Amino acid sequence: GEEASIFAFTDGKTIVPMLPAQDHKAIFEGDKGPNTGGMGAYCPAPVATSAIQSKVMTTVFEPLLKGFQSEGIDYKGIVYAGLMIDGDDVNIVEFNVRFGDPETQVVLPLLKTDLLDVFKAIRDQRLDSIQLEWSDQSSVCVVLASDGYPGTFQKGVEITALPEDNNQTHIIHAGTSLNDTGQLLTSGGRVLGVVSTSNNLESAIQSAYKAVDEVEYSTKYARRDIGHKALKSSVTP
Ligand code: GLY
Repeated sequence: GEEASIFAFTDGKTIVPMLPAQDHKAIFEGDKGPNTGGMGAYCPAPVATSAIQSKVMTTVFEPLLKGFQSEGIDYKGIVYAGLMIDGDDVNIVEFNVRFGDPETQVVLPLLKTDLLDVFKAIRDQRLDSIQLEWSDQSSVCVVLASDGYPGTFQKGVEITALPEDNNQTHIIHAGTSLNDTGQLLTSGGRVLGVVSTSNNLESAIQSAYKAVDEVEYSTKYARRDIGHKALKSSVTP
């Protein structure tokens, strides 16, 4: 099947799912090579159809919440369901009690409701009073890594060009640092996340890669096929 991630907010009484996203875990294009922390993501992920999202709610999130309650687990926060979807069939790959990376970078730009209001409602156990509002746009995150990652890679390489954030595109720092003279350096395997949001997935991909191409450091590596699986699925009956 195909992997997808669905996160949910819960205050222990109510559980509210977020839009589905898909991560790209393998280092090379075509999902080849060793697994990484995630080389890119897009949201929404069409593989998680509305029927699949309903199934996840009734067969995963609602039973999970009942389980928390029956076992006296007082959990307020984020639940992460890592899913394997094969047609109508959904299986759980993993659960985390946190947001996922890089899926969060593409889910949260589409959340129109103020996240602080959601967190306050979770704190006060009144999540049932909040109606989450979502944008109908698409969001893409391309991860810029250090060549060699997830194996050995060089750190301390200067990032000599970085595009400015704008309304559509944001650069999120992951493995970067500033040295004493204010130079921006790589300091990890996954260096930056370039996030673009647009009216459709295709234009979000285009604007993300435009910004990706403007970033310069000598060890720059990015997959060039982030989101392409979803474009293919939208034209295949
Ligand atoms: N995207 C995988 C994770 O956050 O665990």
